[in-house]
Amino acid sequence: MVRAGGAIGFPVDAPAELIAEAAAGELRDVGSGRQELLVERDGGLLVGMVLVRGKEGQVFRHRAEVRKLIVHPGRQRGGIGRRLLARAVERARDLGFRQLVLATRGGTHLPEFYRRQGWAEVGRFPAALQVAPGDFRDEHWFQCEL
Ligand SMILES: CC(C)(COP(=O)(O)OP(=O)(O)OC[C@H]1O[C@@H](n2cnc3c(N)ncnc32)[C@H](O)[C@@H]1OP(=O)(O)O)[C@@H](O)C(=O)NCCC(=O)NCCS
Repeated sequence: MVRAGGAIGFPVDAPAELIAEAAAGELRDVGSGRQELLVERDGGLLVGMVLVRGKEGQVFRHRAEVRKLIVHPGRQRGGIGRRLLARAVERARDLGFRQLVLATRGGTHLPEFYRRQGWAEVGRFPAALQVAPGDFRDEHWFQCEL
């Protein structure tokens, strides 16, 4: 997914060990209850995932973050991403959060994807991300009131 240009926190040429290490850390946090993992399957095949993670700190207790929304490259544009995002919203609401936040990469279809799902764009950090040497992208911030 990283190699295919997925905007999930790594440059396209990130070392495989680093990606595997980060994935293991995410799964540990799921195991410990620090965040929730929602998945979509087609038969035995995992075709999509998203993480919902409560923000740390007393003043942030009402907020959670949507992270790593990913659909299998062969299954994109079939409504799975939209469904996963809706499920993340429902889950966060059930868990008692009042607000969801997420950050996403500019210069891609992603900001428009979130706008179309009804999320409010609340800010943008210019050139916050360097996805390849010299390729700087804005980071777009979104919120969803629950
Ligand atoms: C973002 C992502 C999860 C969307 O999943 P998806 O299953 O392809 O999305 P959906 O089929 O639900 O698409 C809903 C709408 O989003 C828009 N959209 C989705 N992918 C698009 C693309 N590649 N280009 C332009 N618009 C796109 C379209 O408006 C689409 O509706 P349409 O197909 O009726 O035109 C998917 O693109 C993905 O996995 N990307 C790689 C990982 C990544 O970058 N994640 C972002 C983390 S912030």
